[in-house]
Amino acid sequence: MADGGSVADPPTRSVAALSLADDGPSSDPALERSQGRIFIKSILQGLEDFVGRKAVVGGWVKTGREQGKGSFAFLELNDGSCLANLQVIVDAAVFPLAQLTPTGTSVLVEGELKKPPEGVKQNVELRVDKVLEVGLVDPAKYPLPKTKFTLEFLRDFVHFRARTNTISAVARIRDELAYATHTFFRENGFRYVHTPIITTSDCEGAGEMFQVTTLFSDSEKIEKDMKQNPPPSESDIEASKLLVKEKGDSVAYLKSSNASKEEVAAAVSELVKAKETLAKLEDRFRLKGGIPHKDGKIDYARDFFGRQAFLTVSGQLQVETYACALGNVYTFGPTFRAEHSHTSRHLAEFWMVEPEIAFANLEDDMNYAESYVKFLCKWLLDHCHQDLEFMVKNFDKTATERLSHVSSMPFERISYTKAIQLLENVRDREFENKVEWGVDLASEHERYLTEVVFKRPVIVYNYPKSIKAFYMRLNDDGKTVAAMDVLVPKVGELIGGSQREERLDVLMQRITESGLPLEPYDWYLDLRRYGTVKHSGFGLGFERMILFATGLDNIRDVIPFPRYPGRADL
Ligand code: 4AD
Ligand code: MG
Repeated sequence: MADGGSVADPPTRSVAALSLADDGPSSDPALERSQGRIFIKSILQGLEDFVGRKAVVGGWVKTGREQGKGSFAFLELNDGSCLANLQVIVDAAVFPLAQLTPTGTSVLVEGELKKPPEGVKQNVELRVDKVLEVGLVDPAKYPLPKTKFTLEFLRDFVHFRARTNTISAVARIRDELAYATHTFFRENGFRYVHTPIITTSDCEGAGEMFQVTTLFSDSEKIEKDMKQNPPPSESDIEASKLLVKEKGDSVAYLKSSNASKEEVAAAVSELVKAKETLAKLEDRFRLKGGIPHKDGKIDYARDFFGRQAFLTVSGQLQVETYACALGNVYTFGPTFRAEHSHTSRHLAEFWMVEPEIAFANLEDDMNYAESYVKFLCKWLLDHCHQDLEFMVKNFDKTATERLSHVSSMPFERISYTKAIQLLENVRDREFENKVEWGVDLASEHERYLTEVVFKRPVIVYNYPKSIKAFYMRLNDDGKTVAAMDVLVPKVGELIGGSQREERLDVLMQRITESGLPLEPYDWYLDLRRYGTVKHSGFGLGFERMILFATGLDNIRDVIPFPRYPGRADL
């Protein structure tokens, strides 16, 4: 679907009416006015108050056109505070119009807010007295075309994406979801904990970690240095050794021939210098390019952290240390997975919200997950009316319906075993992936359960231990673990979580069974050795939540700077 940042802006009247109904943030008016500027959103929300007043607005021209044989220009100005544009009118006597009309031009203008004449679409417009600042655009060179374009096309212009209606609406929705997340957890007594981005433990044990190392850049530096400054040859070293010997002999001779203190001291100082030179030469002689090895393996002791390090796949293990002290905590940060998947649901860098709750079992975990997702949906309905309407109109007719449905209906909860039974009995559809007890549910199965069978979010719990991570609590049947996934229409898996294994012996066995070494998890095992506690948590994929809310099809369009195999722009 094309976006047309520069075209097809919604008519201001309908949007203005919507924004009046929108419950925008109430800000301190003094703070809003950097350079005396007022947000277009505030103007459109408070129409009656503003008409007849002077105002300074700043933004980027969406469309500009000269009228009345070049005697004035209409500019559709957007400042990102909301989807709607403000119509701005500039007379040719005030400023050279041709400099203002190109799409993408930035302007800071001062003027009077007026009610337009009867029959005009807009409810308010700004008649400019002064153009305070302009950031020019050469329309022949502006990177975004005037014609409609796809979101995929737009990914080649990551630095201009936010100037389009779609991506700026996504940005506001994303921001609201982040704010709603902090609000929800604060209201429920959770503390926000910053877990590390660089880590030495693999949380999911799936071997999908990006490595953090300076070995390559160090080795490149050495190689460059060796080229500019070639290392000494063996004969240089021999000559230097000979010099040390000569200087040593001369000190010995002076001492034995009762030379003066001064003479001996001078000879010793020369000997010291010769030894230093030899040591330096030997160091440089040993210098080798390439990655350092020891016993046939890469020598990570010579890496930046003195050991192998990675980008985190999840902050869970670290946040558990705080849950086992502060009780209810959450982390919300970027996570990284080196999966080579090119799907519309996977990113190599994505954000995850991970609450962790002490003294909580799997049912508590499900309850928190359900009320958190409902809270997010309700929040968007209350705070993002205009941007959601845009999504409905342009991308997904059911977007707001889905949000209100989910915010008001109880989620279905079924065991993995029951889910498999249901899927095995499906007759109206051929699945690409085989269904039988023990397999991981594929996206097609997850979506079938939530979209077709239950038509609402579904929490599937008690998965086979063989397909889940080592930290999930083993159930009494010895076959399943206390895991839960929240599946939602449009997306499939939105949340993955579990009760954590709090029994030391069982946890050690699960780590070993999963083929992982115990040593790196020793600190994690300590949490079970000293004051262990039943606890649970989950991770919500933040971009998946935005996909669910907006109805957009590709996860690459709901994160400002998407990273996926082959692409990491900017
Ligand atoms: O199910 P996952 O792998 O769970 C964990 O990482 C747990 N440690 C969380 C916890 O219990 N604290 O990932 C959690 C969620 C998934 O349900 C999915 O929504 C999202 O993260 N996710 C991804 N989103 C985008 N791109 C990827 N490559 C993703 N992988 C997982
Ligand atoms: Mg999962």
